[in-house]
Amino acid sequence: CIAQSSGTLININSFKGIATRAINSHKGSHGKLLCVGGNQGTAGAIRLSSEAALRTGAGMVRVYTHESSITPISIGRPELMVSSNNLHQALEWASCVVIGPGLGQDEWAQQTFDEVMQYCQSNKIPLVIDADALNLLAKQASSYTLEQCVLTPHPGEASRLLSVSTSEIESDRFNYARLCAKRYNATCILKGAGTLIDNAQHTWVCEDGNPALAVGGSGDVLTGIIGALLAQGLTIDEAARYGVTLHAKAGDIASERDGQRGMLPSDLFAIVRELVNKVT
Ligand code: APR
Ligand code: MG
Repeated sequence: CIAQSSGTLININSFKGIATRAINSHKGSHGKLLCVGGNQGTAGAIRLSSEAALRTGAGMVRVYTHESSITPISIGRPELMVSSNNLHQALEWASCVVIGPGLGQDEWAQQTFDEVMQYCQSNKIPLVIDADALNLLAKQASSYTLEQCVLTPHPGEASRLLSVSTSEIESDRFNYARLCAKRYNATCILKGAGTLIDNAQHTWVCEDGNPALAVGGSGDVLTGIIGALLAQGLTIDEAARYGVTLHAKAGDIASERDGQRGMLPSDLFAIVRELVNKVT
């Protein structure tokens, strides 16, 4: 990422954001991340976020999902703790939360969204809001004064958050990233080629990444990466900047190895693991 204000280049290999692990650390030391989403038929989205979070080093990842999604999420990934009941207890357990991938916008989604928002905001739990959770937020923006939140809109989601057209957003991305951060009192990641990160004071531009990432599910991977970085103690802004950089660089490595066409978002997992372990 290049900081727009100072022109400082943040080099991923010299990023000091994640501390070396203490020899006697345990899973609890590396954060408890709750991933919320995966309505009927869209389990894959939250599975991608959750698995990305594990590969980014979160100590424990729990998934709260629709009853019908438990099996598809759990198959082949027994490390995930998946359930469809007692959301309150899962929220009490979590040190940070991501919500949105595959959430949908039906009654189950709305109830889930309301409970998560209320709990995280009153207990100041860091929260990453993505996908349908952004669409639900857009419908009732005035009910929430956000704190400790990262919003990860693509231009279509940003258009709903700000009530302007997608083409208007795309014609003035810096301005709308700032407006989004200000309006929601959050750090806004406006995705797409040249992803912008804006915390209402500074804007960073990600110069990494390529069209290999333009495939369904790659945004869900980004959300999980950011959640895992928060779980490991990075601040909201660090997790946003560093997460975007990690994701984009992983996309660049994937396309250098195998080309821009045909990358699966799940191909990013192993590369993200390599990159996150290069950081000392
Ligand atoms: N260059 C660099 N990065 C890119 C490019 C590009 N040309 N195209 C896409 N990306 C990156 C974006 O910056 C972002 O990080 O890929 C990711 C795409 O994220 P999304 O647009 O959120 O897409 P994704 O979530 O994977 O799939 C669509 O999102 O809107 C929701 O639920 C909806 O199912 C839908 C899903
Ligand atoms: Mg998305």
